[in-house]
Amino acid sequence: MRRDLQQGIAHCTAADLTVHAFPECAVYAREVARALGCGAAAVKTHRFPDGEALVRVSAPAPPRAILVRPLNDPDGKIFEVLLAADALRRAGAERVILAAPYLPYMRQDTVFHDGEPVSQRVLGTMLGRAFDGVVTLAPHLHRVRSLADVIPCDARALSPAPALARWVSAMGKDWLVVGPDEESSELARTVAEQAGLSWIAGEKTRLGDRKVRVRFGKLPDAARALVIDDIASSGVTLAAAIKALKRAGAKAVDAAVVHAIFADGAISAIRSAGARQIVSCDTIAHRSNAIPTAPLIAKAVEEML
Ligand code: R5P
Repeated sequence: MRRDLQQGIAHCTAADLTVHAFPECAVYAREVARALGCGAAAVKTHRFPDGEALVRVSAPAPPRAILVRPLNDPDGKIFEVLLAADALRRAGAERVILAAPYLPYMRQDTVFHDGEPVSQRVLGTMLGRAFDGVVTLAPHLHRVRSLADVIPCDARALSPAPALARWVSAMGKDWLVVGPDEESSELARTVAEQAGLSWIAGEKTRLGDRKVRVRFGKLPDAARALVIDDIASSGVTLAAAIKALKRAGAKAVDAAVVHAIFADGAISAIRSAGARQIVSCDTIAHRSNAIPTAPLIAKAVEEML
């Protein structure tokens, strides 16, 4: 490898590393490969009439393999990445790293009601057995501090704060960064500090899958607010936060999320609440994507190799 001092990212000159991409994230994977200076290969998928999956990787595989796939819409994709890890090893890869910009099932990190699983542990155990390393962005780690406690391998959780802060900095100086709840306060604080802005966090009570209540203390006068959260799923958290900020006198409210899950109706709920613009990181392909994260993933992969 040679280190490009200007970019701070190593380039693999040896042909011993390949980025393997599932079809729906080929563009993102190419960005990772470009930053690493290595080749990208397609992972092909096939569904049999009975619903079973078959994957086929490029063979023979060089000794080091990076498999790229955000695991939104998760159940089928999770099984396919497990199949791909097996295929890569059979094709010659000795070290296989999963780069999953979005990692699902992290919110079910405890038994909330009798009879439930700890889904976070189930997924973590499977990935830890299949991969030598896993890298992701902003996994929802609430009760667990380290991703390696969930996934027993070289598991790394990256902060999207530098990417968000770069984008936020371009908006100007008179913005208040807002986390809708206690869980988002660390991200809001870090982004605000890196962008040189003030921040606050709200108090959220979840009343159902699609019902939350968000409250804020007193806002600075005539604040323009940017609400930041790790995930927008139903969109009700952002919508409730935006409404509360408007009631409290915010003169403009924008929304930025890391993982653009955006279930049906989410975007219109957030817009109806009064959001001026809604943007997201590109961890999940969505029309709101405005903040690139592949360089963060590539840099972490380089450190892991
Ligand atoms: C939960 O605490 C997360 O940080 C998000 O606030 C939550 O998952 C968003 O979900 P929804 O869009 O359904 O409110």
